[in-house]
Amino acid sequence: MKLTVNGKTQVVDVEPDMPLLWVLRDELGITGPKYGCGMAQCGACTVHVDGTAVRSCVTPVGTVQGAVTTIEGLGSPEALHAVQRAWIEHQVAQCGYCQSGQIMAAAAFLATQPNPTDEQIDQAMSGNLCRCATYPRIRQAVKSAAAQLKGA
Ligand code: FES
Ligand code: FES
Repeated sequence: MKLTVNGKTQVVDVEPDMPLLWVLRDELGITGPKYGCGMAQCGACTVHVDGTAVRSCVTPVGTVQGAVTTIEGLGSPEALHAVQRAWIEHQVAQCGYCQSGQIMAAAAFLATQPNPTDEQIDQAMSGNLCRCATYPRIRQAVKSAAAQLKGA
């Protein structure tokens, strides 16, 4: 199968029902997306397909139609995405396990809602669980990223 991941064409020899998360991590060595629950319940595995946040643990690779972006392809060390910059400024991460999923969810959300209220942020991020309870910093960072994106 052919996939576009972070701007590169990748060819993988896998069954079409293999979850995208497995393909990314085990076949391609892209380990930013994390395995949390495997049941679409936690958001740790969130990646983008054509800019939309999807839970890669329950997405059969054979159903992926668009370009996949993981945290590794969202920005670069030299040119971070506004959400990544805001995450650093607000020191959001604690253990870090959930954070790539949080960032990918936030980036997809802000692409569709550039001027969110606190309630909209909480609602949009409510499906991404954090066992370290970094939620207040997540909210601050999303607000800060929204402001940066508007100024960009
Ligand atoms: S690992 Fe995919 S939602 Fe939890
Ligand atoms: S930072 Fe530890 S689970 Fe979210």
